[in-house]
Amino acid sequence: MKKITIAIDGHSSSGKSTMAKDLAKTIGYTYIDTGAMYRAVTLYGLQQGLFSGDTLDEERLREEMKNIHISFRPNPETGRPDTLLNGVDVEKDIRGMEVSNHVSPVAALDFVRYELVEQQKKMGRGKGVVMDGRDVGTVIFPDAELKVFITASPEVRARRRLDELQGKGLDVSYEEILENVKKRDFIDSTREVGPLKQAEDAILLDNSNMSLEEQKAWLLEQYEKIMNYEL
Ligand code: DC
Repeated sequence: MKKITIAIDGHSSSGKSTMAKDLAKTIGYTYIDTGAMYRAVTLYGLQQGLFSGDTLDEERLREEMKNIHISFRPNPETGRPDTLLNGVDVEKDIRGMEVSNHVSPVAALDFVRYELVEQQKKMGRGKGVVMDGRDVGTVIFPDAELKVFITASPEVRARRRLDELQGKGLDVSYEEILENVKKRDFIDSTREVGPLKQAEDAILLDNSNMSLEEQKAWLLEQYEKIMNYEL
């Protein structure tokens, strides 16, 4: 069967990763989490002491980019890919609040975006991918056959992220997360390079009041519509 490229963009904690992963599994596509790559670069910066407080030493990060190698490895237990940073599994570390609080300025740097976007384009070259991020439908794959832009209210997103992090045993408060969600929305959508923006031909979904099953069914329906049209 013909394979297509599926771009799932949207706000942080909008549930887009869960939807993208589920769809990829259902239709046998490769799932690529571009946010995990920005998170891995951020973790590297934290590990190497490139931040002093909230301020990043951009020049040192620029020099260090050649030493940062990010890859994915399927995890049979979760059925989803784990993120590796220089061969080390950092899946848990990149999801914590420390990385979440530092990632937006890293993701706004042109040299970081340039490098990661090149890698992401290569990863999706063969089609048959579901890629989730902020700029997939606008910058990485402007020709993707199916583009979806997902959002939900900041409060709903903060609640979902709280449940997710608490489920992983992390100690965080709702207020802290809500503040982080709003701050990231602002930085992600106002940065100069690859800002978070709905592609003109993307289908918008506000899933604030939808169950996981409803979201899953909705996305599968969009895929089936495209496939019927493409065949
Ligand atoms: O989806 P996420 O929360 O894991 O993304 C982490 C950060 O990376 C988020 O602040 C936005 C940024 N990001 C980006 O700028 N471009 C992407 N394609 C994916 C994520």
